[in-house]
Amino acid sequence: MRIDVVSIFPGYLAPLELSLVGKARTAGLLDVRVHDLRDWASDKHRTVDDTPFGGGAGMVMRPDVWGAALDDVLAGAAPSARLVVPTPSGTTFTQRTAEALAHEQHLVVACGRYEGIDARVAAHYRERGVAVDEVSIGDYVLNGGEVAALVVVEAVARLLPGVVGNPESLVEESHGAAGLLEYPVYTKPPRWAGLEVPEVLLSGHHARIARWRRDEALTRTAERRPDLVVALDVAGLDTHDLAL
Ligand code: ADE
Repeated sequence: MRIDVVSIFPGYLAPLELSLVGKARTAGLLDVRVHDLRDWASDKHRTVDDTPFGGGAGMVMRPDVWGAALDDVLAGAAPSARLVVPTPSGTTFTQRTAEALAHEQHLVVACGRYEGIDARVAAHYRERGVAVDEVSIGDYVLNGGEVAALVVVEAVARLLPGVVGNPESLVEESHGAAGLLEYPVYTKPPRWAGLEVPEVLLSGHHARIARWRRDEALTRTAERRPDLVVALDVAGLDTHDLAL
């Protein structure tokens, strides 16, 4: 997969050289290219923003600068490239969004700053047939799209074949197919700070362990994320689940 990220702070994207994403790049599984939006500004001050029509606080990013940048980046892209625009006013970015994006060949992530990008940019690329996803990583406001871009790239990259060493570890995690938060996990030593590992996990009894983990996942989800419990498919629940 190829991912281009356009930002006025390319240095913000440096963490994409580290850890799993960095390794995936070195291994040739992922081609990430970071661009400085100001390279497409046309004046000597490399201006990318201006005051909002209609008045109000803050600055808006100019469509002509973004258009020049995205035309160039998309010119070198697969025809199916998707444009991802992180914004607090987008649809919620979830594990399902990450799964869908992980099937794409090419993503272009446009990081806005200030009060955001002139709305004609998304409209223009949609009119040209480019799929545009305006996504929010949560109900809070960041200073710009860069941190959200890091979130999107990491969530997508770890789903690409070969990126996570043991694909089994993707199966039972939180926000997986079961729609539950993950059960609590433990490792050695079996007793630490006066706290014991739940005995069932030391029993070697696979069916009992699986049942215990499912109960914990259900209880934890009900306590922490009742919204996820409401969304569960009742057909996927067994009688033991329903008795909890
Ligand atoms: N830019 C600023 N805040 C954001 C958010 N919550 N999600 C995505 N992009 C953003």
